[in-house]
Amino acid sequence: MGMHRRVVVGISGASGAIYAQRLIRLLVGGGIETHLVVSPLGQRMLHDELGMEGIDLDALSGGAGGVVGSGRVGELKLHHYRDVGASIASGSFLHDGMVVVPCSSNTLSAVAHGSAQNLLHRAAAVTLKERRRLVLLHREMPVSLIDTRNMQTATEAGAVVCPASPGFYMMPRTIDDLVDFVVGRLLDLLEIDHRLKVRWGQDVGVHTRSGALGDRSRVES
Ligand SMILES: Cc1cc2nc3c(=O)[nH]c(=O)nc-3n(C[C@H](O)[C@H](O)[C@H](O)COP(=O)(O)O)c2cc1C
Repeated sequence: MGMHRRVVVGISGASGAIYAQRLIRLLVGGGIETHLVVSPLGQRMLHDELGMEGIDLDALSGGAGGVVGSGRVGELKLHHYRDVGASIASGSFLHDGMVVVPCSSNTLSAVAHGSAQNLLHRAAAVTLKERRRLVLLHREMPVSLIDTRNMQTATEAGAVVCPASPGFYMMPRTIDDLVDFVVGRLLDLLEIDHRLKVRWGQDVGVHTRSGALGDRSRVES
């Protein structure tokens, strides 16, 4: 990548904090300026699922160079969720896209209805009004009619609703493989080049099936 890139990441209170951590590590490790906003329940997920005390920027950003970009390290800037006067609340702040990862049904609803109750919602609303890429990595199961209606509304407004739903055709062996599948697709949606294995027929095909998680003989041996 020759150009300076800038991405906004929102973490809300759905399960899947590990997706956010991996994405931020790859963005920062790839030299991409990353702006972060975390809802209170998002912060709780960082604690409950990753054992994080507070919003630990070092733990969120370290040690993943070489997968995205040229090897430079990007800046990670945290914005307080109540600071609706932050730079990312304005359409004049130029960026290459925003990802809400993971996206709760509550935040999906706020985005679909344009109610900017906090900076995460406001940054998402601004991303839509400026016609920039907004990706919502929604995580809930099952989903209600209200959720599906909110997904439709958000999609009609220009967002990409992306269920946190890894494919198994890439023959994952570890949780990290599953996480990387989802994060790789997020990077694709942001049009950020990466070297994660997400492409059927290129990175893996029908001739490489043995040894996957689904291979019972391997699991039991
Ligand atoms: C342990 C735990 C797990 C949760 N998992 C989800 C989830 O996967 N998806 C979801 O939509 N809400 C989930 N919730 C509920 C949301 O955190 C809750 O609706 C909250 O109001 C979301 O706020 P936010 O959108 O501002 O982050 C979970 C809550 C807790 C405490």
